[in-house]
Amino acid sequence: MDTDVREPGGSRAAERTDGHTDEEAARHDDAMRAASAFGPVGVIGAGAMGAGIAQVAATAGHAVTLVDVAPGAAAAAVEKVGGALSRLVDKGRMPADHATAVLARITAAQSLRDLPNCGLVIEAVPEDLGLKRGIFAELADLQPSTTVLATNTSSIDIDDIAADVADPERVLGLHFFNPPPVMALVEVVHGERTAPAYVEHAVALVAAWGKTPVRCSSTPGFIVNRVARPFYGEAQRIVESGIADPATVDWILRERGGFPMGPLELTDFIGQDVNLAVGTSVWEQTGRDERYAPTEFQRGLVEAGRLGRKSGRGVYAYAADGSVEGAQPDLELAERLVGGPVATDPLARTLAMLVNEAVDLVARGEASADDVDTAMRLGTRYPKGPIAWGRELGFDRVARWVAELDAAYPGGRYRPSPALTDGSLT
Ligand SMILES: NC(=O)c1ccc[n+]([C@@H]2O[C@H](COP(=O)([O-])OP(=O)(O)OC[C@H]3O[C@@H](n4cnc5c(N)ncnc54)[C@H](O)[C@@H]3O)[C@@H](O)[C@H]2O)c1
Repeated sequence: MDTDVREPGGSRAAERTDGHTDEEAARHDDAMRAASAFGPVGVIGAGAMGAGIAQVAATAGHAVTLVDVAPGAAAAAVEKVGGALSRLVDKGRMPADHATAVLARITAAQSLRDLPNCGLVIEAVPEDLGLKRGIFAELADLQPSTTVLATNTSSIDIDDIAADVADPERVLGLHFFNPPPVMALVEVVHGERTAPAYVEHAVALVAAWGKTPVRCSSTPGFIVNRVARPFYGEAQRIVESGIADPATVDWILRERGGFPMGPLELTDFIGQDVNLAVGTSVWEQTGRDERYAPTEFQRGLVEAGRLGRKSGRGVYAYAADGSVEGAQPDLELAERLVGGPVATDPLARTLAMLVNEAVDLVARGEASADDVDTAMRLGTRYPKGPIAWGRELGFDRVARWVAELDAAYPGGRYRPSPALTDGSLT
């Protein structure tokens, strides 16, 4: 960034002292002008996500009002954002005067009535339909009819949240990933009644904030939390049925699959309770589709309080310094399993079901193939998008793998998507 930033209403210094180009400065000025033309942004809920989203919007040049009902919570969150901005300054990633200006754009408040007329309001209160529905009804009354009303929900249907809003065409999901200032991906989620013009408006805004928007419909788990289900589920079932131990499964997915973390260590990192809640929500919302049924293995961990890294024990046991205790992969077993029968090959099994899930989402018209691949690469850091991966493996081969799994484990869990063989994706 630069020292000759023109903040809205501010003045422009004559000389450049930061080594940045005039072109960069002009781009920054354009962004500031666009933000000021779009208008203020309201953020409701100043927790982990709300504070981060407020930082993102203020950095993009918007005046932001951050509202939290808990006394002092919004002010504490603004302070937290100040700390995050200071760290960026210390690392040389933001000039000090820019950080000061960003922070000055965020106002803490305690009531929805304290919001000015906004271009956009983003709700980030806890995942509770009744709470969110009430907030949207109130926002719709308080804000002008042109204000875009967005929710950061991870799992609740957009139309349910908009149920008490008289003009639900302006309600949509903006699903940021944690932490919002770092994660590039934002799922822009449209409900049945969201008007396409609002979706395009939100997509353009998210892109102007330097994020990567993907579009999807309000389907259970949206893109990332839906397509990622088999990554966890297959690994848990493989361990549950005694095919391989967790360390060997994780090793195979990391070393043979190229995933940054194995599925079991990843669930320990996320928290077994959090991961189980997301999986259960998708399962419930799909009418308890067998494909997403929570495993006894994971339920057992949660019931035993083995929640993962945060409780010192999950799939693995952790030492005080965070290192894993006493879990070594069995490399001979790994070599025997990979490339063997699909039912006992953790990599083929996982890839088959990831590709199948992604292809199904596209076939149902819930997201485009490109958006699914972008979402999975940015949201989960998979080495390849599942559709591109399927293309590389050959959709016919993936269909055979899923059919083999269906034969080994009948009951409807392993249903090949018709799109694997109907030629629509090749
Ligand atoms: N944490 C994540 O990794 C993550 C990622 C993506 C999306 N989400 C979603 O974002 C939302 C918020 O999650 P979080 O982790 O930031 O929650 P959080 O519990 O950290 O923060 C929620 C905040 O909302 C406040 N709040 C409660 N009721 C309120 C009301 N009526 N008006 C204003 N503020 C109110 C609470 O005081 C709290 O500070 C949830 O819908 C969650 O599913 C979370």
